[in-house]
Amino acid sequence: MIDKQTKELKLQFCKYGQEHVFKFWEILSNEEQLQLLQQAKNLNLDYLSKIIESVLHENSQPAQADKSAASITPAKFIKFPNSEVDWQKWKETTAIGEQVIKDGKVAAFTVAGGEGTRLGCVVPKGTLQATPLKKKSLFQIFAEKIKAAERKYETSIHWIIMTSERTHNETIEFFGKNDSFGIENTHFIKQGQMPAITYDGKIIMETKSKIAMHPDGHGGALKALGRSGLLAMLEDFGVEIISYFQVDNPLARCIDPYFIGSHVKNQSQVSSRMIRKLYPEEKVGVFCEIRGKNCVVEYSDLTKEQAMLRDATGNLIFCAGNTGTHLLDVPFIKQFNGKDIHSEIPYHVSQKAIPTVDSLGEPISPQAPNGLKLEMFIFDILPFAERTIILESDRLSNFSPIKNSDGLDSLKTCLQDQLKLFTSWLLAAGTDIPTDANGMPPFDIEISPMFADNKHDFLTKWERLATKPTIAANQYIE
Ligand code: UD1
Repeated sequence: MIDKQTKELKLQFCKYGQEHVFKFWEILSNEEQLQLLQQAKNLNLDYLSKIIESVLHENSQPAQADKSAASITPAKFIKFPNSEVDWQKWKETTAIGEQVIKDGKVAAFTVAGGEGTRLGCVVPKGTLQATPLKKKSLFQIFAEKIKAAERKYETSIHWIIMTSERTHNETIEFFGKNDSFGIENTHFIKQGQMPAITYDGKIIMETKSKIAMHPDGHGGALKALGRSGLLAMLEDFGVEIISYFQVDNPLARCIDPYFIGSHVKNQSQVSSRMIRKLYPEEKVGVFCEIRGKNCVVEYSDLTKEQAMLRDATGNLIFCAGNTGTHLLDVPFIKQFNGKDIHSEIPYHVSQKAIPTVDSLGEPISPQAPNGLKLEMFIFDILPFAERTIILESDRLSNFSPIKNSDGLDSLKTCLQDQLKLFTSWLLAAGTDIPTDANGMPPFDIEISPMFADNKHDFLTKWERLATKPTIAANQYIE
């Protein structure tokens, strides 16, 4: 049986110029043969060969070609409220969003399938302890934000967590151990995988019997939602908007009525939250416009000259940094369901050092890039939408990602940002906390998302407290 299947598969791989995948077949143990057979069977060679063809000949990727053109202009965005009139509009817009949440039309979606390479993370990132006092995991922080919204709006919110082959089981186990943090409607979907390829388009073998696979990028969410049947299920539940955010940013506002209200008011199909870039080299994608359509140009793709451009007042011209937070309209993303979405959404390539084997099957751990990783990015759906909005947000209240093990965008900077944020709310409420020139208190404090996840709610609740706690070291407000 195995022989017949193998023969057919080998022929297929040969047809696509990938016969080397079976190079060591004869010397593999039965178990190894089965492993390879399983992996090989799951590859759609026709699809893969089209992608390889397009990424190796970049010009056949329309969106990619566009981004390298000099026709990029900065995207227009809705500015952060700055006047009485703006704040009045904010109130009205927030009320619209609140009604949509109450009506059960919003689901939360966390992308948690990344490999955490820069962080050197061996466990799923979402399990990392990321608050100053209580050392709550990233997953717990989001769960509390969702729970708080469920309580406030007397509704139930579906929470989808996208995992990958590597993070799936551990993530589910973690949620199991923690009773899903009290969230009733959690759904786990596993994103797809892609094989790594050499510069001339050959599939890379990680070992003699294993193809080197990696997650297909957060754009894989579109396929995963359709494949898992969840998109149809969400529709049945009456969900119209998916609130998408990255697992590495504990400050992400999972359910934000103002953002949602802006999305609805503008009949937007994809809405994105931006923060102003702090400095030209900051590693965030930038919202731009190409031929009248919004898109994200990755930090690696923006030229140095473009990144450095400033206006007459000294502000960066390409300033709209991508926080990786979007609102996706369910009817809009349905159009990508079940299709060969690659014909529309491009794969991006990144050069990586990929562990492999030499011609004798001996393991090699290259120190320099030896191959390409293929990924889809969620924001590449932007140009397909007729209506999109980009909403400026206050950085400290929305964005402090944990990307690196130290230095910028690390757990250390994120904890500092949380302390600074909590302190700013307490100061706005009139409490007396000593702070240094950077707004940092001399001790740790923490505010639970169950109390408030934003300044407005914090001030309202604080005002209502019969007895207000004295703020001192290790104060936890819940
Ligand atoms: C990303 C954005 C960048 C943005 C920045 C904000 C991309 C390509 N760029 O950069 O525009 O300014 O975040 O922090 O996304 N993930 C998956 N599956 C995957 C790959 C990633 O679920 O296959 C998840 C990760 O777990 C993470 C998020 O997507 O939560 C972002 O991925 P990451 O690779 O860290 O993107 P950045 O390069 O930091």
